[in-house]
Amino acid sequence: MPATIVIGAQWGDEGKGKIVDVLSHDADLVVRFGGGANAGHTIWVGGNKFVLHLIPSGILRQRCINIIGGGCVIDVASLLSEMAGLRAVGVTVGPDRLLLAENAHVVTAYHRAIDQLSGGKIGTTGRGIGPAYADKARRIGIRLGDLRDDAFEANLGAQAEFHGATAKALHGDAPMPDFDQVLDDLRAAGRQLHDHICDLVPVLVRARQQNLRALFEGAQGVLLDIDHGTYPFVTSSNTTVAGALGGLGVHMPFETRIGVVKAYSTRVGNGPFPTELHGPEGEQLRTKGQEYGATTGRPRRCGWLDLPQLRRAFAMNAFTHVAVTKLDVLSGLGPIRVAVEENADGTMHYEEFGAFDADLTAARSFGELPPSCQQLLRFLESQLEARLAMLSTGPGRDDVLDVEHAW
Ligand code: IMP
Repeated sequence: MPATIVIGAQWGDEGKGKIVDVLSHDADLVVRFGGGANAGHTIWVGGNKFVLHLIPSGILRQRCINIIGGGCVIDVASLLSEMAGLRAVGVTVGPDRLLLAENAHVVTAYHRAIDQLSGGKIGTTGRGIGPAYADKARRIGIRLGDLRDDAFEANLGAQAEFHGATAKALHGDAPMPDFDQVLDDLRAAGRQLHDHICDLVPVLVRARQQNLRALFEGAQGVLLDIDHGTYPFVTSSNTTVAGALGGLGVHMPFETRIGVVKAYSTRVGNGPFPTELHGPEGEQLRTKGQEYGATTGRPRRCGWLDLPQLRRAFAMNAFTHVAVTKLDVLSGLGPIRVAVEENADGTMHYEEFGAFDADLTAARSFGELPPSCQQLLRFLESQLEARLAMLSTGPGRDDVLDVEHAW
């Protein structure tokens, strides 16, 4: 079946939303399988900027059915406001176009509150993601199906008790959300989302049997995977190709596996970053690439590409293709460096590529890109042992070179 999966190969924010948006043109289904409103996919359509945190980018294509899978944690307030925002600009978001897994977990006001109190060490997005996954494992989580059936009061009570006690013990008299208010809000959300919530297993099995074109949209990136990333500076879900199957619970033979690589590295939040640039070069990348979090607005840490890390991510996920984004940010920057291996003393050994200064959006084919840019891309392709699929040369929906049609 023509199932394609798109995964960020770095620390998130690689520009996956744009790649998924382009590919969704040909898709019947676009599916998210993990994470929550900690993700932020920025897409530009007709001069309008959309930031989608939960809803798959396929919502902007009329023919696509969009699915939020069981491995996700869903802040229903955030979801409802995203749905309202899309409706306000004429996008239809009915239950025929947006399906929510009944086994996905709900991020409650308690999760957000405790994350904001204690997520600082990791530098979380404060969206309640970790606490929601922790409560799922503690067996006091609330699933979307419980919301639909108004069968969640007991577990909400358990959450209020647990997080209230934690907040009191660790943070003194930090105020916690009012139980009755949270209960009412969730009941109202359950009524509004009622018709969207379903058992996704038969839906996905049918999609596989009917050979539908399904696109699976990763959130965050390989290095933020809870099991295989730079623990403890990671998110709370599995962000890899292997993790997608866990989140879906239905086997999908992903024929095309696209690793998305930003032309340089960024990271938000704390944790190791061997190629980070602290001086003016880092600032230049941040300003030129507008590297501020789509979800939190935090400045992203910036640095050069890290090939040892990327080789590992590509090998783990058996990516068949590489999509390179934000190439235009490198234009006019001066010589470009790529870390190729770690020296014995822990520092990085870099390879340098010539500077280029051209409007990349003017290039209509790979051959029209500046020669040093082509060299850099071919180098990446050979190092990562994956075929160059797409190149993003500017922020617009059309600023993409399709080097090899990946479907
Ligand atoms: P959490 O997912 O909010 O718990 O945050 C854990 C770590 O993952 C923090 O370092 C966040 O900055 C990072 N993170 C979570 N989601 C994203 C994302 O979509 N892009 C980049 N970093 C993210």
